[in-house]
Amino acid sequence: MYDAWADQVIEKIRKKMRWCGEKNRDRIPYTTDANGNYDDRSELSAEWSLDNGLNWWTNGFWGGMMWLLYQDTGEESYAEIARISEYRLEACFDSYYGLHHDVGFMFQPTAVADYRLTGNERSRKTALHAANLLVGRFNPVGRFIRAWNEVGDQDTRGWAIIDCMFNISLLYWASEETKDPCFKQIAMMHADTAMAHFVCPDGSVNHIVEFDPETGERVKSHGGQGYGEGSSWTRGQGWAVYGFVISYLHTGKQEYLDTAKKVAHYCMANIPESGVVPIDFRQPVEPPYEDSCGACVIAGGLLELARCVPGPEQESYRRAAMKILKTLDESRADWSECCDAIVQECSGAYHDASHHMTMTYADYFFMEAVYKVKGKGILLW
Ligand code: GLY
Repeated sequence: MYDAWADQVIEKIRKKMRWCGEKNRDRIPYTTDANGNYDDRSELSAEWSLDNGLNWWTNGFWGGMMWLLYQDTGEESYAEIARISEYRLEACFDSYYGLHHDVGFMFQPTAVADYRLTGNERSRKTALHAANLLVGRFNPVGRFIRAWNEVGDQDTRGWAIIDCMFNISLLYWASEETKDPCFKQIAMMHADTAMAHFVCPDGSVNHIVEFDPETGERVKSHGGQGYGEGSSWTRGQGWAVYGFVISYLHTGKQEYLDTAKKVAHYCMANIPESGVVPIDFRQPVEPPYEDSCGACVIAGGLLELARCVPGPEQESYRRAAMKILKTLDESRADWSECCDAIVQECSGAYHDASHHMTMTYADYFFMEAVYKVKGKGILLW
Protein backbone atom coordinates (compact mmCIF):
# COMPACT_ATOMS: atom_id res chain seq x y z
CA MET A 1 0.00 0.00 0.00
CA TYR A 2 2.82 2.38 0.91
CA ASP A 3 4.82 1.00 -2.01
CA ALA A 4 2.43 2.29 -4.64
CA TRP A 5 2.43 5.72 -3.01
CA ALA A 6 6.24 5.75 -2.95
CA ASP A 7 6.43 4.68 -6.61
CA GLN A 8 4.41 7.61 -7.82
CA VAL A 9 6.25 10.12 -5.63
CA ILE A 10 9.62 8.76 -6.78
CA GLU A 11 8.47 9.34 -10.36
CA LYS A 12 7.70 12.97 -9.50
CA ILE A 13 11.09 13.34 -7.76
CA ARG A 14 12.91 11.94 -10.80
CA LYS A 15 11.05 14.24 -13.15
CA LYS A 16 11.65 17.35 -11.08
CA MET A 17 15.27 16.64 -10.24
CA ARG A 18 16.24 15.89 -13.85
CA TRP A 19 15.87 19.54 -14.88
CA CYS A 20 16.53 21.01 -11.43
CA GLY A 21 19.82 19.12 -10.99
CA GLU A 22 21.15 20.30 -14.36
CA LYS A 23 19.93 23.85 -13.89
CA ASN A 24 21.76 24.15 -10.56
CA ARG A 25 24.72 21.87 -11.18
CA ASP A 26 27.29 24.58 -10.41
CA ARG A 27 25.63 25.86 -7.27
CA ILE A 28 25.43 24.85 -3.64
CA PRO A 29 21.88 25.96 -2.93
CA TYR A 30 20.12 26.59 0.34
CA THR A 31 16.84 28.31 -0.51
CA THR A 32 14.87 29.76 -3.40
CA ASP A 33 14.18 33.44 -4.18
CA ALA A 34 10.83 35.04 -4.97
CA ASN A 35 11.06 33.68 -8.52
CA GLY A 36 11.65 30.14 -7.33
CA ASN A 37 15.34 30.11 -8.29
CA TYR A 38 17.93 28.58 -6.00
CA ASP A 39 20.61 30.76 -4.40
CA ASP A 40 24.26 29.72 -4.25
CA ARG A 41 26.32 29.37 -1.06
CA SER A 42 29.60 28.38 -2.66
CA GLU A 43 31.49 31.65 -2.13
CA LEU A 44 34.09 31.42 0.61
CA SER A 45 33.72 34.59 2.64
CA ALA A 46 36.82 36.57 3.55
CA GLU A 47 35.37 36.82 7.04
CA TRP A 48 36.51 34.16 9.47
CA SER A 49 33.20 33.93 11.31
CA LEU A 50 30.30 31.58 10.71
CA ASP A 51 28.89 32.87 7.45
CA ASN A 52 26.27 32.26 4.83
CA GLY A 53 28.82 31.16 2.24
CA LEU A 54 30.84 28.02 1.79
CA ASN A 55 30.89 27.21 5.52
CA TRP A 56 27.11 27.27 5.70
CA TRP A 57 26.03 24.20 7.64
CA THR A 58 23.53 22.92 5.03
CA ASN A 59 26.04 22.82 2.19
CA GLY A 60 26.23 19.03 2.20
CA PHE A 61 22.58 18.49 1.36
CA TRP A 62 22.61 19.38 -2.32
CA GLY A 63 25.37 16.83 -2.86
CA GLY A 64 23.41 14.42 -0.66
CA MET A 65 20.34 14.80 -2.84
CA MET A 66 22.47 13.99 -5.87
CA TRP A 67 23.78 10.83 -4.19
CA LEU A 68 20.22 9.78 -3.38
CA LEU A 69 19.35 10.20 -7.06
CA TYR A 70 22.50 8.39 -8.12
CA GLN A 71 21.51 5.44 -5.93
CA ASP A 72 18.02 5.53 -7.35
CA THR A 73 18.83 5.90 -11.05
CA GLY A 74 22.47 4.83 -11.38
CA GLU A 75 23.00 7.90 -13.59
CA GLU A 76 26.60 9.12 -13.53
CA SER A 77 25.54 12.74 -14.09
CA TYR A 78 24.24 12.86 -10.50
CA ALA A 79 27.61 11.71 -9.14
CA GLU A 80 29.27 14.45 -11.19
CA ILE A 81 27.02 17.15 -9.75
CA ALA A 82 27.48 15.79 -6.22
CA ARG A 83 31.25 16.02 -6.59
CA ILE A 84 31.14 19.66 -7.65
CA SER A 85 29.93 20.65 -4.20
CA GLU A 86 31.97 18.00 -2.38
CA TYR A 87 35.25 19.20 -3.89
CA ARG A 88 34.34 22.85 -3.35
CA LEU A 89 33.72 22.20 0.35
CA GLU A 90 37.34 21.09 0.78
CA ALA A 91 38.28 24.80 0.73
CA CYS A 92 36.62 25.15 4.15
CA PHE A 93 39.55 23.28 5.65
CA ASP A 94 41.97 25.98 4.46
CA SER A 95 39.93 28.82 5.88
CA TYR A 96 39.30 26.69 9.04
CA TYR A 97 37.93 29.48 11.27
CA GLY A 98 34.40 29.40 9.87
CA LEU A 99 33.97 25.69 10.59
CA HIS A 100 31.77 24.34 13.38
CA HIS A 101 30.34 21.00 14.57
CA ASP A 102 28.22 20.78 11.42
CA VAL A 103 31.13 19.28 9.52
CA GLY A 104 29.03 16.12 9.95
CA PHE A 105 26.07 17.59 8.10
CA MET A 106 28.46 18.96 5.47
CA PHE A 107 30.71 15.99 4.79
CA GLN A 108 28.62 12.93 5.63
CA PRO A 109 26.15 13.27 2.72
CA THR A 110 28.97 14.38 0.36
CA ALA A 111 32.42 12.88 1.04
CA VAL A 112 31.32 9.87 3.12
CA ALA A 113 28.51 9.12 0.68
CA ASP A 114 30.91 9.34 -2.26
CA TYR A 115 33.43 7.06 -0.59
CA ARG A 116 30.82 4.52 0.41
CA LEU A 117 29.16 4.45 -2.99
CA THR A 118 32.19 4.72 -5.28
CA GLY A 119 35.30 4.08 -3.16
CA ASN A 120 36.68 7.54 -4.06
CA GLU A 121 39.98 7.84 -2.08
CA ARG A 122 39.92 11.64 -2.18
CA SER A 123 36.55 11.56 -0.40
CA ARG A 124 37.88 9.22 2.29
CA LYS A 125 40.69 11.65 3.09
CA THR A 126 38.29 14.60 3.18
CA ALA A 127 35.87 12.78 5.48
CA LEU A 128 38.62 11.69 7.88
CA HIS A 129 39.93 15.23 7.97
CA ALA A 130 36.43 16.46 8.88
CA ALA A 131 36.06 13.75 11.55
CA ASN A 132 39.31 14.85 13.19
CA LEU A 133 38.10 18.45 13.25
CA LEU A 134 34.90 17.29 14.95
CA VAL A 135 36.87 15.35 17.57
CA GLY A 136 38.79 18.57 18.29
CA ARG A 137 35.55 20.16 19.50
CA PHE A 138 35.03 17.56 22.23
CA ASN A 139 35.01 18.82 25.81
CA PRO A 140 36.28 15.85 27.88
CA VAL A 141 35.09 17.20 31.25
CA GLY A 142 31.53 17.85 30.13
CA ARG A 143 31.63 14.96 27.63
CA PHE A 144 29.96 16.99 24.89
CA ILE A 145 30.89 18.31 21.45
CA ARG A 146 30.87 22.09 21.26
CA ALA A 147 28.41 23.38 18.69
CA TRP A 148 29.27 26.83 17.37
CA ASN A 149 32.25 29.12 17.67
CA GLU A 150 30.21 32.20 18.36
CA VAL A 151 26.66 33.47 18.51
CA GLY A 152 26.71 37.27 18.61
CA ASP A 153 28.71 38.24 21.66
CA GLN A 154 27.68 35.18 23.68
CA ASP A 155 30.26 32.83 25.14
CA THR A 156 29.46 29.51 23.45
CA ARG A 157 32.39 27.41 24.69
CA GLY A 158 29.97 25.28 26.71
CA TRP A 159 27.12 25.07 24.21
CA ALA A 160 25.96 21.79 22.76
CA ILE A 161 22.87 21.32 20.60
CA ILE A 162 20.62 18.37 19.83
CA ASP A 163 21.34 18.64 16.08
CA CYS A 164 24.81 17.24 16.79
CA MET A 165 23.25 13.79 17.12
CA PHE A 166 23.54 13.82 13.32
CA ASN A 167 27.07 15.17 13.17
CA ILE A 168 28.39 12.28 15.22
CA SER A 169 27.53 9.90 12.36
CA LEU A 170 30.82 11.07 10.92
CA LEU A 171 32.62 9.75 14.00
CA TYR A 172 30.93 6.36 13.85
CA TRP A 173 31.93 6.13 10.21
CA ALA A 174 35.53 7.16 10.99
CA SER A 175 35.89 4.38 13.58
CA GLU A 176 34.34 1.81 11.27
CA GLU A 177 36.69 2.92 8.51
CA THR A 178 39.97 3.24 10.44
CA LYS A 179 39.30 0.64 13.18
CA ASP A 180 40.37 3.29 15.68
CA PRO A 181 37.67 3.21 18.40
CA CYS A 182 38.43 6.71 19.63
CA PHE A 183 36.00 8.42 17.23
CA LYS A 184 33.16 6.14 18.28
CA GLN A 185 34.02 6.54 21.97
CA ILE A 186 33.68 10.29 21.64
CA ALA A 187 30.44 9.95 19.69
CA MET A 188 29.00 7.73 22.43
CA MET A 189 30.08 10.05 25.23
CA HIS A 190 28.33 12.90 23.44
CA ALA A 191 25.21 10.78 22.84
CA ASP A 192 25.15 9.77 26.52
CA THR A 193 25.35 13.43 27.55
CA ALA A 194 22.54 14.31 25.13
CA MET A 195 20.43 11.48 26.55
CA ALA A 196 20.98 12.69 30.13
CA HIS A 197 20.70 16.45 29.60
CA PHE A 198 18.61 17.16 26.51
CA VAL A 199 15.78 14.65 26.67
CA CYS A 200 13.06 15.57 29.17
CA PRO A 201 11.02 12.98 31.11
CA ASP A 202 8.01 13.52 28.80
CA GLY A 203 10.11 12.84 25.68
CA SER A 204 10.39 16.47 24.56
CA VAL A 205 13.88 17.70 23.82
CA ASN A 206 15.84 20.90 24.49
CA HIS A 207 17.55 22.52 21.55
CA ILE A 208 20.58 24.00 23.32
CA VAL A 209 22.11 22.96 26.62
CA GLU A 210 24.85 25.09 28.10
CA PHE A 211 27.57 23.49 30.22
CA ASP A 212 30.35 25.11 32.18
CA PRO A 213 33.30 24.49 29.85
CA GLU A 214 35.73 24.32 32.80
CA THR A 215 33.82 21.97 35.13
CA GLY A 216 31.41 20.31 32.68
CA GLU A 217 28.41 21.06 34.89
CA ARG A 218 25.07 21.77 33.26
CA VAL A 219 24.26 25.48 33.47
CA LYS A 220 20.90 25.80 31.71
CA SER A 221 18.94 25.12 28.53
CA HIS A 222 18.14 27.67 25.84
CA GLY A 223 15.12 27.75 23.54
CA GLY A 224 17.40 28.14 20.53
CA GLN A 225 15.48 27.90 17.28
CA GLY A 226 12.28 27.02 19.10
CA TYR A 227 9.70 29.23 20.83
CA GLY A 228 11.57 29.65 24.11
CA GLU A 229 13.30 27.99 27.03
CA GLY A 230 11.54 24.74 27.91
CA SER A 231 9.63 24.66 24.60
CA SER A 232 9.86 21.91 22.04
CA TRP A 233 11.37 22.88 18.66
CA THR A 234 9.98 20.29 16.28
CA ARG A 235 13.03 19.94 14.09
CA GLY A 236 15.06 19.34 17.23
CA GLN A 237 12.67 16.53 18.16
CA GLY A 238 13.37 15.13 14.70
CA TRP A 239 17.13 15.38 15.11
CA ALA A 240 16.71 13.47 18.38
CA VAL A 241 14.47 10.64 17.14
CA TYR A 242 16.52 10.05 14.04
CA GLY A 243 19.87 10.79 15.74
CA PHE A 244 19.37 8.30 18.57
CA VAL A 245 18.34 5.64 16.06
CA ILE A 246 21.57 6.30 14.16
CA SER A 247 23.57 5.93 17.38
CA TYR A 248 21.75 2.69 18.11
CA LEU A 249 22.48 1.34 14.63
CA HIS A 250 26.20 2.06 14.99
CA THR A 251 26.59 0.82 18.58
CA GLY A 252 23.75 -1.58 19.41
CA LYS A 253 23.26 0.28 22.71
CA GLN A 254 19.67 -0.40 23.76
CA GLU A 255 19.26 2.91 25.66
CA TYR A 256 19.70 4.82 22.41
CA LEU A 257 16.84 2.89 20.83
CA ASP A 258 14.70 3.39 23.95
CA THR A 259 15.43 7.12 23.87
CA ALA A 260 14.52 7.34 20.18
CA LYS A 261 11.21 5.64 21.00
CA LYS A 262 10.52 7.97 23.90
CA VAL A 263 11.00 11.06 21.72
CA ALA A 264 9.07 9.43 18.87
CA HIS A 265 6.09 8.78 21.15
CA TYR A 266 6.15 12.40 22.27
CA CYS A 267 6.18 13.55 18.63
CA MET A 268 3.40 11.17 17.61
CA ALA A 269 1.23 12.44 20.47
CA ASN A 270 1.80 16.04 19.40
CA ILE A 271 1.62 15.96 15.61
CA PRO A 272 -1.64 17.75 14.77
CA GLU A 273 -4.50 15.86 13.15
CA SER A 274 -3.88 17.85 9.94
CA GLY A 275 -0.39 16.31 9.64
CA VAL A 276 1.03 19.84 9.31
CA VAL A 277 3.93 20.26 11.71
CA PRO A 278 4.46 23.55 13.61
CA ILE A 279 7.88 25.11 14.26
CA ASP A 280 7.53 24.25 17.92
CA PHE A 281 5.12 21.81 19.52
CA ARG A 282 4.66 24.33 22.35
CA GLN A 283 4.24 27.50 20.30
CA PRO A 284 1.10 29.66 20.65
CA VAL A 285 -1.78 28.78 18.31
CA GLU A 286 -1.37 32.14 16.53
CA PRO A 287 0.48 32.81 14.30
CA PRO A 288 0.17 29.34 12.78
CA TYR A 289 3.83 29.01 11.90
CA GLU A 290 4.82 25.70 10.41
CA ASP A 291 7.99 23.87 9.48
CA SER A 292 7.79 21.27 6.76
CA CYS A 293 11.50 20.66 7.20
CA GLY A 294 10.98 19.50 10.78
CA ALA A 295 8.21 17.29 9.43
CA CYS A 296 10.61 15.66 6.95
CA VAL A 297 13.25 14.96 9.62
CA ILE A 298 10.70 13.46 12.02
CA ALA A 299 9.29 11.27 9.23
CA GLY A 300 12.78 10.02 8.35
CA GLY A 301 13.48 9.22 12.01
CA LEU A 302 10.20 7.35 12.43
CA LEU A 303 10.85 5.26 9.33
CA GLU A 304 14.36 4.38 10.46
CA LEU A 305 13.01 3.54 13.92
CA ALA A 306 10.39 1.30 12.34
CA ARG A 307 13.16 -0.75 10.76
CA CYS A 308 14.59 -1.50 14.22
CA VAL A 309 11.45 -2.93 15.82
CA PRO A 310 9.11 -5.81 15.07
CA GLY A 311 5.45 -6.20 14.08
CA PRO A 312 2.72 -3.84 15.27
CA GLU A 313 5.21 -1.40 16.76
CA GLN A 314 6.87 -1.12 13.39
CA GLU A 315 3.55 -0.40 11.75
CA SER A 316 2.69 2.38 14.22
CA TYR A 317 5.89 4.28 13.38
CA ARG A 318 5.44 3.74 9.65
CA ARG A 319 1.84 4.91 9.82
CA ALA A 320 2.81 8.10 11.65
CA ALA A 321 5.59 8.79 9.14
CA MET A 322 3.27 8.16 6.19
CA LYS A 323 0.72 10.62 7.51
CA ILE A 324 3.39 13.34 7.54
CA LEU A 325 4.77 12.40 4.12
CA LYS A 326 1.37 12.24 2.46
CA THR A 327 0.48 15.66 3.88
CA LEU A 328 3.73 17.04 2.50
CA ASP A 329 3.17 15.49 -0.92
CA GLU A 330 -0.44 16.60 -1.17
CA SER A 331 -0.27 20.10 0.24
CA ARG A 332 3.29 21.28 0.83
CA ALA A 333 5.17 20.09 -2.26
CA ASP A 334 5.75 21.99 -5.50
CA TRP A 335 6.11 19.52 -8.35
CA SER A 336 6.08 22.20 -11.04
CA GLU A 337 8.93 23.95 -12.84
CA CYS A 338 8.01 27.26 -11.17
CA CYS A 339 10.21 26.57 -8.16
CA ASP A 340 13.53 24.74 -7.87
CA ALA A 341 12.62 23.31 -4.47
CA ILE A 342 10.08 20.61 -3.76
CA VAL A 343 9.16 21.13 -0.10
CA GLN A 344 7.54 24.45 0.79
CA GLU A 345 6.68 26.18 4.10
CA CYS A 346 9.90 25.52 5.98
CA SER A 347 11.06 27.72 8.83
CA GLY A 348 14.58 28.20 10.15
CA ALA A 349 13.65 29.33 13.64
CA TYR A 350 10.55 30.53 15.47
CA HIS A 351 11.89 34.04 16.08
CA ASP A 352 13.37 34.56 12.60
CA ALA A 353 12.09 37.58 10.70
CA SER A 354 10.68 35.43 7.91
CA HIS A 355 9.10 31.98 7.82
CA HIS A 356 7.62 29.55 5.34
CA MET A 357 10.44 29.33 2.85
CA THR A 358 12.22 26.47 1.07
CA MET A 359 15.35 24.71 2.33
CA THR A 360 17.46 22.15 0.51
CA TYR A 361 17.67 19.96 3.58
CA ALA A 362 13.90 19.64 3.65
CA ASP A 363 14.09 18.31 0.10
CA TYR A 364 16.95 16.03 1.09
CA PHE A 365 15.07 14.51 4.04
CA PHE A 366 11.81 14.31 2.10
CA MET A 367 13.49 12.44 -0.75
CA GLU A 368 15.41 10.21 1.65
CA ALA A 369 12.18 9.34 3.48
CA VAL A 370 10.36 8.46 0.27
CA TYR A 371 13.23 6.19 -0.75
CA LYS A 372 13.11 4.63 2.72
CA VAL A 373 9.42 3.82 2.28
CA LYS A 374 10.41 1.99 -0.89
CA GLY A 375 13.41 0.35 0.83
CA LYS A 376 15.82 1.89 -1.69
CA GLY A 377 19.39 2.98 -1.09
CA ILE A 378 21.85 2.69 1.78
CA LEU A 379 21.54 4.78 4.93
CA LEU A 380 23.99 7.65 4.39
CA TRP A 381 24.27 8.49 8.13
N1 GLY B 1 20.85 22.39 12.49
C1 GLY B 1 20.16 23.62 12.48
C2 GLY B 1 18.78 23.51 12.00
O1 GLY B 1 18.17 22.47 12.01
O2 GLY B 1 18.25 24.53 11.61
